[in-house]
Amino acid sequence: MKIDVLTLFPEMFTPVTEASMLGRAREKGILDIGLHNIRDYTQDKHNRTDDYPFGGGGGMVQMADPIFRTLEDIGAQGKRLLYMSPRGRIIDQPMLEELAEEEEVVILCGHYEGVDQRVLDYWQAEEVSIGDYILTGGELAAMVLIDAVARLIPGVLGNKDSALDESIYSGLLEHPQYTQPRNYRDMEVPEVLTSGNHRRIDLWRFEQSLQLTAQRRPDLLLEYAKQREKLGKEERRLLDSTLQAYDLYRII
Ligand code: ADE
Repeated sequence: MKIDVLTLFPEMFTPVTEASMLGRAREKGILDIGLHNIRDYTQDKHNRTDDYPFGGGGGMVQMADPIFRTLEDIGAQGKRLLYMSPRGRIIDQPMLEELAEEEEVVILCGHYEGVDQRVLDYWQAEEVSIGDYILTGGELAAMVLIDAVARLIPGVLGNKDSALDESIYSGLLEHPQYTQPRNYRDMEVPEVLTSGNHRRIDLWRFEQSLQLTAQRRPDLLLEYAKQREKLGKEERRLLDSTLQAYDLYRII
C-alpha cells in the first residue's frame, strides 16, 4: 500500500514510521509512505503557506495553491484523498478495514484554522477525524490512521496476531493477559491459565472478554450479540448469561 502524506511538518512522522511494525512493514516493501512538505511548493519568496481568512475572524487558513501544486506533483488525481479534520467522520474499525484494501491513499494534514475549502471541493476530499477533540494539526491524527490501517495489511503483523482479529473475539474487548512470574508480590495468575486445558482457557478468556465488554462497552456487546447464532453451544451459553447478568437481554 502506498500512502502519500501532505504536511507542513514531515519530520514529525519519521520517528513513528521508522519504528516498530511500521518500520518493518516499510522495510519489507508492504507499506510505502511518501512524505511531502507543502512548503516546498510555495512560489513566493517568504514561502508562505497560509493567509488571513476572508470575512475576518481569528487564525490563519492554509492557501489552496501550495496544496494544489503538491497534489498535482505527486499525481493525486483519481486517488482517494483523506483530509484529517475534527469535522470529519470518526474513524472506526470497519472503515479502516475498507481503507486497508486500497492500493493508494493520499492524506492531507491541516493546520491553523484549516485549509481553503476549494482544496476540499476540487479534490473531493473525505474528511476524517480520530475523535471528538481538537489537535493542533492533522499529523498525529494521520499517524493514528496510518498505524491502524497498516496492521490490517496482510504481512504486517505476524500470523498469530492477525488470526485473533478473525476469531470469535472480534467486536469484544480483549481479555486480561498475564506472563511470568506466576506469583508476583503475592498476586497469583488465575489458575485456569496454567492448567494446560486449552478448551477451559479459551472459554475463560471468552467469558472475561464478554464481561469486560458488558461493563465498559455494552453497546459493543449488543452489536456482538447479533451473531449469537454463529457461536458454539458453550459460547452462546456464556453470552446469554452475561447479557442476563448485566441486564442487557431485554434490549436485544
Ligand atoms: N485535526 C485536529 N483535530 C483532529 C481530529 N480530532 N481528528 C483528525 N484531525 C484533526
